[in-house]
Amino acid sequence: TLPSRVRIVEVGPRDGLQNEPLPVSVETKAELVARLADAGLTTIETTAFVSPRWVPQMADAAKVMARVNASRRPGVRHTVLTPNLKGFEAARAAGVDEVAVFAAASESFSQRNINCSIDESLTRFEPVLAAAREASLPVRGYISCVAGCPYEGAVAPRAVADIAARLIAMGCFEVSLGDTIGSGNPATIRAMLDAVLARVPAAQLAGHYHDTWGMAIANILVSLEAGIAVFDASVGGLGGCPYAPGASGNVATEDVQWLMQGLGIDTGVDLDALVDTAAWISNELGRRPASRVAPARLAQ
Ligand code: HMG
Ligand code: MG
Repeated sequence: TLPSRVRIVEVGPRDGLQNEPLPVSVETKAELVARLADAGLTTIETTAFVSPRWVPQMADAAKVMARVNASRRPGVRHTVLTPNLKGFEAARAAGVDEVAVFAAASESFSQRNINCSIDESLTRFEPVLAAAREASLPVRGYISCVAGCPYEGAVAPRAVADIAARLIAMGCFEVSLGDTIGSGNPATIRAMLDAVLARVPAAQLAGHYHDTWGMAIANILVSLEAGIAVFDASVGGLGGCPYAPGASGNVATEDVQWLMQGLGIDTGVDLDALVDTAAWISNELGRRPASRVAPARLAQ
C-alpha cells in the first residue's frame, strides 16, 4: 500500500535558482518563497550558505533569509544547504529552521562539487552536526549521484547505502537520495532503494529526482511503492542551465502534486496556487514552466 500522506520538500529557490544564468533579485527570491508557502508547501529549501566563488547565485543567502524572516508564514520550515561550519554559522545567524549537509556517492562528483573526497566530506560534516545539535537545529543529509555520476557513469547501490547509513549514524534525521543527472529509471532506482532500505528505514529517506530523462515521476512511483513518503521537487521544474546542454531541473512540484492527487495522497498543497507560482516565476525568468502540468492546467 502507498503512503496516505506525502511531504513535498520544495527546493526550487535553492536547487532551481542556483543554476540560473541571470541574476535573480533578493525580492524575487523572497517573493517566490512566500508564494510557495501560500501554496501550502511547509518545507522550503530557501537558499544555500555555500562559497560565493563556487555558486555566485547563492551569494545573497543572508539577505534572502532576512527578507523571508521579515514576513514568515506560520508552520513553514526554511531549510538551507551548509557544506561546512562556516556555512552553518552563517545560516544559524540568519535564522534558519533546519540545515542540510551534502555528500556524494561518487568520488569525482564529491571533488568537483565540494572540493574534497567522500570521507573528507563526512569528517567535515561532524562539527556541523555537533553545532546543529547544540543549536537544536535538525540536519538533513543529501547524497548526490545515487543512480549515476556525470564523470564515472553508473554508481553501485552499495555505495549509496553505505553513505546513507553513515549520515544517519552521524545524526541526520533524514537522507535525501539525489539522482543528480536524472539518469535513474524505475529499475535502477528500485535496486538502489533495495540496498539503502536494508540499512535505513523508509521513514528516514527522501527521493530527490532530477527529470533530465523524463523518468522522475516513474521513479517517484516506485519509491512510493517502497514506502518513501518525502519527495523533493522544484516549482516550474526550475533548474538546469540553458548554457549547459543536457542539464535539467528537479521534477516539477506541480507534476508531483498532480501524481499525488491522482493517487489520493494528501500533501496539503494547492495545485492551482502552485501552477500560478510556476507561471509567475517562469515569466520572471523569461521562459515557460518546465513541467507537464502547468501548461495543461493553464490551458483548461
Ligand atoms: P574550498 O574552496 O575547498 O573551501 O570550497 P575552503 O574551506 O578552502 O575555503 C575557501 C574560501 O571559501 C575561503 O575564502 C572561505 O572563507 C570560503 P577566502 O579566505 O579564500 O576568501 N568559504 C565560504 N564562504 C561562504 N560560505 C561558506 C564557505 N566555505 C568556505 N560555506 C566548499 C569548499 C564546500 C566551501 C565549496 O566547494 C562549496 O561551497 N561548494 C558548494 C557547491 C554547491 O553549492 N553545489 C550545489 C549544491 S549541491 C546539489 O545541487 C546537489 C543536490 O541538489 C542533490 C542532488 O541533486 O544530487 C543537493
Ligand atoms: Mg539537486
